[in-house]
Amino acid sequence: MRGVRQHVNPLGLAFMRVRARPIERPRQLAADAQVDVELGCADADFSFELARLHPERLVVGLEIREKVVAMNRARAAAEGIPNLVFGYVNLNVDMDQVFGEAAVDRFHLLFPDPWFKERHHKRRVLEPSLCEVLRRQLRPGGELHFASDVYEVALEAMAVLEDPAIAHLGLRNLGAPWSFWRGEAPFGAVSRREVITRRRGQRVWRLRYVLS
Ligand SMILES: C[S@@+](CC[C@H](N)C(=O)[O-])C[C@H]1O[C@@H](n2cnc3c(N)ncnc32)[C@H](O)[C@@H]1O
Repeated sequence: MRGVRQHVNPLGLAFMRVRARPIERPRQLAADAQVDVELGCADADFSFELARLHPERLVVGLEIREKVVAMNRARAAAEGIPNLVFGYVNLNVDMDQVFGEAAVDRFHLLFPDPWFKERHHKRRVLEPSLCEVLRRQLRPGGELHFASDVYEVALEAMAVLEDPAIAHLGLRNLGAPWSFWRGEAPFGAVSRREVITRRRGQRVWRLRYVLS
């Protein structure tokens, strides 16, 4: 993606203002169409593939870099994929604006930026307040799917999701408590980062939590 910044600071002042908009459902989709959402989609290879595999579903890619949102919209229009839409969000600021209650079947948080330096850890996106928002937006039986190539990042995400302090949300590890999901990509689509990770022969640390 030429001319597009690789990273933005999600805690920067410019990104603190609430400006995410509700996602509008394309009219041609059934009112009860299932909804899949990729959080922090970048070039959104996962979303493009998923939308092609499931033309009956609404697939939504959300991203903090607005240029990337615009590029993805242009690509979806050029490729004629009407069930794929994109929107701006800062996951830690205005995710609550994007969907109403019980509107989403699956959230996919794939390969979030690892923010290795300790002083940058606070920029990591999966925190208890985001879990609460996602929980509200999930339908009963819905799922939060997480993957990372960085073990420490995946373990931290698991620690957030297994924390007794958020047990009341009812998110249950689809494997067993405190365990990673084993096996291939469970949704038929893979993100660009997942392709790169596998090509390097590295492991994907995956988590799946369902709303029971
Ligand atoms: C490493 S990329 C992963 C892209 C894709 N999901 C994949 O697996 O190939 C992480 C993306 O999350 C976006 N991002 C980082 N912080 C965010 C935030 N607070 N809200 C929304 N998007 C964010 C970044 O701009 C970047 O595009």
